[in-house]
Amino acid sequence: MKAKVIEIDQEHIDQAAIREAGGILLRGGLVAFPTETVYGLGGNAMDAAASGRIYAAKGRPSDNPLIVHIAEMDSLREIVSEVDPRALLLAEEYWPGPLTMILPKGDKVPYETTGGLDSVAVRMPSNPIALALIQAGGGFVAAPSANTSGRPSPTTAQHVIEDLGDTVEMVLDGGMVGIGIESTIVDFTEKVPTILRPGYISLEMLKRQIPEIRMDKGLIEEHSDLRPKAPGMKYKHYAPRAPLSIVEGCLEQVVDKINQLAAQAEANGQRVGIIGTDETVSLYTSGLVKSIGTREEEESIALHLYEVLREFDSLDVSCIYSESFDTPRMGQAIMNRLLKAAGHTIIYV
Ligand code: TXA
Ligand code: MG
Repeated sequence: MKAKVIEIDQEHIDQAAIREAGGILLRGGLVAFPTETVYGLGGNAMDAAASGRIYAAKGRPSDNPLIVHIAEMDSLREIVSEVDPRALLLAEEYWPGPLTMILPKGDKVPYETTGGLDSVAVRMPSNPIALALIQAGGGFVAAPSANTSGRPSPTTAQHVIEDLGDTVEMVLDGGMVGIGIESTIVDFTEKVPTILRPGYISLEMLKRQIPEIRMDKGLIEEHSDLRPKAPGMKYKHYAPRAPLSIVEGCLEQVVDKINQLAAQAEANGQRVGIIGTDETVSLYTSGLVKSIGTREEEESIALHLYEVLREFDSLDVSCIYSESFDTPRMGQAIMNRLLKAAGHTIIYV
């Protein structure tokens, strides 16, 4: 393994480690670091060659733009050509935090960072390790999720090492992230601000500041062939190695159906994975059963989603069945990721 891994406590940040990591960024190298959502693969956003290295490390198509992470409000005006006043309202309410905004690109940002687009995605994360690294690395850190393209996003440093340990120079290990799914993305380049990717900050929350905000049509009409506005949304994402099917309906019937499907698959010699919750794991009669969290606390489901998908990859199962998680606030974001992982395979009961 090439990467130097440094454990950092976010309550007592090791400044020497941050200086070393910042130095790597300033020299054009890559550092993986924790944010409150998922781990990011950071490079200097103002350095076209560093962005190129990010795409190469992830095996990501270079038309899929990167998010520029900043640590101070003043940095925003340096990378965008104009700021919609409604974006400032959201920044005031939700930055630092799990919100990304797409605004017209300023001249300083290389097209390599924005995948050739005239807009730029900007986010100020709240994780103190991330903020310290951004400051030490020059103020503008381009960072996609630190997974190999097509694999579930990393929620621990161990996940990053599995995927990128041989390519990235340094991994800052700040323990498990707090949220577990990527930031909400709001596009301000159209007349009506539009959510391109749902996240912890929900449509209802954003409506308090911007009543006219809407969800992207491609997100609403799940099977539509509209060209997605966020280029990243068109690629198959977050996919576990084994085919995943979501079973949807009333919970009791869902459990019965999964038991029936799992028994059939096992009779055919398959190794079956089941994604349940604390409330249901004891009701399954076969298969390798994992709890994703508790239905009493939807945050726990978001937090463990990618981890569970990775665990099933390493268990080498041949198929996975999952319950559906249409929870009140984060349900849209959770199901957006799970549906992608399942390639939209849903069994209704
Ligand atoms: O929580 C997060 O946002 C994490 C952490 C590390 O901050 N980052 C993350 O980045 O999820 P990534 O690259 O995995 O996803 C960024 C998404 C992609 O779907 C990309 O296509 C979209 O944002 N995006 C970036 N810039 C864009 C732009 N200018 N216009 C439209 N979509 C954009
Ligand atoms: Mg990603």
